[in-house]
Amino acid sequence: MEDKNLIYPIFDRMLARQDKEELLKQKSVMIWFTGLSGSGKSTIAIALERELHKRGLLCRILDGDNIRSGINNNLGFSETDRVENIRRIAEVSKLFIDTGIITIAAFISPNDDIRDMAADIIGKEHFLEIYVSTPLEECERRDVKGLYAKARKGEIKNFTGISAPFEVPKNPTLSLDTSKLTLEESINKLLELILPMVSQ
Ligand code: ADX
Repeated sequence: MEDKNLIYPIFDRMLARQDKEELLKQKSVMIWFTGLSGSGKSTIAIALERELHKRGLLCRILDGDNIRSGINNNLGFSETDRVENIRRIAEVSKLFIDTGIITIAAFISPNDDIRDMAADIIGKEHFLEIYVSTPLEECERRDVKGLYAKARKGEIKNFTGISAPFEVPKNPTLSLDTSKLTLEESINKLLELILPMVSQ
């Protein structure tokens, strides 16, 4: 471990989050989607970003495909790697939040410890936990990426919901089951929650 005393933070001299929020005429918030692979997290995140953007709000989406092929391309799906995956994502999200940007993350983030770690890094007061609660059977039936079939055959190890655990969030801000709600209904629920929080 390097000597932390050699690091001189300059945060006290940089412009603050509030300055950025005033510039953008919005308040930033973390919208953290959690749920099984294929539950609809990315689809909802993309539609939500479009709706917020239309209303003049600046957003940034972080999701598995862009993060795991870039900054986290050295990580797999062991428990340790999943923790590191989410830790880095939370730190990156915090940078966006501190820039006044509405930040939308779509990762399985499979257990309470991992989600709590993210909330602690980002700050619980700006953290909305949105559980995309689409049942496993429905995710597996859709099998958009063909991964459930592979996991069932044992071709993918530690696959969430099949051979690795998913802990249902105990107290999410909102739950959205995409087998019961249309995309439009999910987005309307989210807008109802988010718009009052981000308007200056
Ligand atoms: S997390 O558990 O670390 O939060 P993350 O959301 O980044 O997972 O990545 C999940 C995506 O990686 C899945 O949607 C799927 O496409 C792919 N994937 C590949 N292997 C696995 C696995 N063993 N378990 C879950 N998802 C996997």
